[in-house]
Amino acid sequence: MDSTLLRADADDSGDAIAPQALPCPPAAPGEFAALDYRRFKVDPPVVLAPMAGVTNQAYRRLCRGFGAGLYVSEMIIARGLVEGHAKTQQLASFHPEESPRSLQLYGSDPRWLGEATRLLVDHDAVDHLDLNFGCPVRKVTAAGGGAAIPIKPKLMARLVGAVVKNAGKVPVTVKVRLGIDDDHLSFLSSGRVAREEGCVAIGLHARTAAQLYDGQARWEAIAELKAATPGILVLGNGDIQEGQDALRMMRQTGCDGVIVGRGCLGRPWLFAELAALFAGREPEPPPDLGRVVDVLKHHVALLIELYGPRSGVLEMRKWCGWYLKGFPSSGPVRNALFRASSLEEVEALIAPLDRATPYPLTAIRARRCKKSGTQKVALPDGYLDSLDDDQAAPCAAAMEASLSPGEGG
Ligand SMILES: Cc1cc2nc3c(=O)[nH]c(=O)nc-3n(C[C@H](O)[C@H](O)[C@H](O)COP(=O)(O)O)c2cc1C
Repeated sequence: MDSTLLRADADDSGDAIAPQALPCPPAAPGEFAALDYRRFKVDPPVVLAPMAGVTNQAYRRLCRGFGAGLYVSEMIIARGLVEGHAKTQQLASFHPEESPRSLQLYGSDPRWLGEATRLLVDHDAVDHLDLNFGCPVRKVTAAGGGAAIPIKPKLMARLVGAVVKNAGKVPVTVKVRLGIDDDHLSFLSSGRVAREEGCVAIGLHARTAAQLYDGQARWEAIAELKAATPGILVLGNGDIQEGQDALRMMRQTGCDGVIVGRGCLGRPWLFAELAALFAGREPEPPPDLGRVVDVLKHHVALLIELYGPRSGVLEMRKWCGWYLKGFPSSGPVRNALFRASSLEEVEALIAPLDRATPYPLTAIRARRCKKSGTQKVALPDGYLDSLDDDQAAPCAAAMEASLSPGEGG
């Protein structure tokens, strides 16, 4: 029986579980094309979502080991890069084996975005640039940044234009949400802006900023964007938790590719599932506990290589809950791992686990990372009075200067 049919309705942490995936056959020969990013192709058409605090070099390498695709960095603050902040530079770096090197920039001032782009391109430091226009964090939107920008298409056009102009042959994409809230939708105008400014693709997280990560993503908007925006690739994003969801999204919406976010947290083998399905094969069943802890150990090793022995293990703590989510009686081990401060401790804690324990099907579609709940999006005073503006809000620059690397989303 298709594993997607077997779902309980709660995991061990009591989080709500997304609706069941319907069975979905693997791709037929020639059904889905590779994404053509001009300088390279993305085949299968699968993109790892930029996720602040998550998609660092170590995690990108781990995921890439499971299947081909485009593995995007977390958001990098353009101004921090230009001003040479050490942490920003580290987040913006790639391992020599990463190719193509894909980096997401954040900015609300064309000058910083343009300069950051020039810096990256002059140093041959990237193969692809994505622009973040979907960040819903209060501090960011309250200053007119992130998800507040696309409601002002002329401002968005200036920002995208500054990047495309300086990017040379490096392909540029944008990532947006549906809009600020249901009364202020902007995804269709964002599609036009992206195409007119010369982007190769637009990624749509099919939720508003007001929705944060709540409820189901509205895939019908992805179909609407695709139908309304010829001449640019449309990538759908939201609620791809298992491989079949990606094919379902592409078949239902006609989008050209998918962006995978929380579904791969502690489940990097999702990219192997996707590779199999796009190649026309049924995916392997989910790994048993033994294979899960092997992946976890490999992940710690990559984090240690990136950050050193102590910081690498500290960075690992948050991942343990995602890897072990739903495994019966794993609560005490997860809690202990959360306090571990050395590789030896991690190894000693996971050694007694029963390797033959099957993967808990309830964990596959369990909510990961972001809590449910919506927000009233904070905006600068009078922000919505003049949607024809092409200038950033006066407070945007100060906010950007105070954003820490890794903050955002
Ligand atoms: C921890 C976390 C950090 C995120 N950081 C970013 C970010 O830096 N840039 C961005 O464009 N989106 C960011 N997002 C949004 C994701 O890229 C994606 O759009 C969102 O999670 C919806 O996809 P999903 O339903 O597959 O998770 C973040 C999401 C999460 C969960």
